[in-house]
Formats: sequence, C-alpha cells, structure tokens
Amino acid sequence: MKFFVDTADIDEIRDLAATGLLDGVTTNPSLVAKTGRDFFEVLNDICAVVDGPVSAEVAATDVDAMVTEGRKLAEIADNITVKVPLIWDGLKACRALTQAGVLVNVTLCFSPSQAVLAAKAGASFVSPFVGRLDDISHDGMELIEDIRTIYDNYPNFTTEILVASVRHPGHVVEAARLGADICTIPPDVLRLLAKHPLTDRGLETFLNDWQSTGQSILKT
Ligand code: G3P
Repeated sequence: MKFFVDTADIDEIRDLAATGLLDGVTTNPSLVAKTGRDFFEVLNDICAVVDGPVSAEVAATDVDAMVTEGRKLAEIADNITVKVPLIWDGLKACRALTQAGVLVNVTLCFSPSQAVLAAKAGASFVSPFVGRLDDISHDGMELIEDIRTIYDNYPNFTTEILVASVRHPGHVVEAARLGADICTIPPDVLRLLAKHPLTDRGLETFLNDWQSTGQSILKT
C-alpha cells in the first residue's frame, strides 16, 4: 500500500518525506487556503521535495476551464496530478486531460457508481472520502470494499483507489485490509500509525534494565 500525505504544509511534507515512507502528496483548496501561501509557490516547493504524484486541484467547474487550468497545473512538474471534482464536467475534463498524458485524480467520490464513472473516464486515481461518509452515519469503508470489488471485476479499469478523508489509524488499517491502493493521510494521523502505549512502556523497561547492567554496546 502506498502512503500519500494529505497536506499543503511544506514543513510537514519535508519532515515526513525524510522518513522515506512517503509515496506522494494530496492537496485541496481548503488545505492550500490554510497555508495562506501562493498556490503555485506551494506546489513548486512540494514537487521539489516529493518525486511521487502531487495532487493539485482545479478551481473551475466547467469542462473547458478545467482542462485549461489542468494543463497549466501540469506544467509545474511531471509528477503533478490534476484533481477534478466528480461531476459530469469533471469526468469530461478527466478524459481530455488523461488523453493528453496528464495524471488525473477524480475527487469527492461518495458512491460506487461515481467510482465506476471515474474509472471509465480513465482516471489515474479516484478519491473516495471515507471520513465524510462516516460523519453522516454511513460506512466509509463499505464504499472502499465496493469499489475494490467492482474494479477487480474489470482488469481494464486501471484507476487506483486513493482513500481520502482519513481521520484515524483504523481507517488506514481497514483500507489496507480491503486492498485499497493508496491512503492519503493527514500528518498527525500518519505519525499516530507508529504509536502504541505498550511499545513506549516496553522500551522504557528495556532501557532501564540495560542501564542497570552498566554496559555499553559501543565500548566493548
Ligand atoms: O484531500 C481530500 C480529503 O482527504 C479531505 O479530508 O478531512 O477534509 O474530509 P477531510
């Protein structure tokens, strides 16, 4: 499973990229707005740090403008992935940009039928939002399971399932169990993946016991 980080904060991205565990980045207009920075500066900075796909979302909602914006975004770097919303014009823009050789991430996917359309439009990635479904008392992971089953029925669907709106480590584990291709994870949730109280307690005991031996691994 690939890990993307879901943020436009370049300091967070640098820090997480240094772990070697980062396969890509997703941004959206809300995340860019949170930085207070220029959109193109943010994307240039991110693409200088991360080799994998970096999602940048269009702001237009009609097909021609989406394609024009998408082409401009794609000029930033080879790894830019143009994010378009899952509306009819977005699907048409996805088809056109894909045919022009641009990676496309179809975002704001909330149903299996939408995911089928994204695959048929040739999307490189589809982004089902699991957390926002959970928020309205639906089961976000049921959507991932449905999409996985459907895509596996049709080997000509090459769209990768990019689980988005991830809120906690359980979402990541469940997405992995269901065979999702990628999770895009907020930085704080990504760090939480490594945490376990028994790890902390066990390490403390080992270190105390080692100190009591008075030995040093490097001084023998
Ligand atoms: O990048 C899209 C998605 O991950 C947003 O998540 O937490 O705003 O629902 P959230």
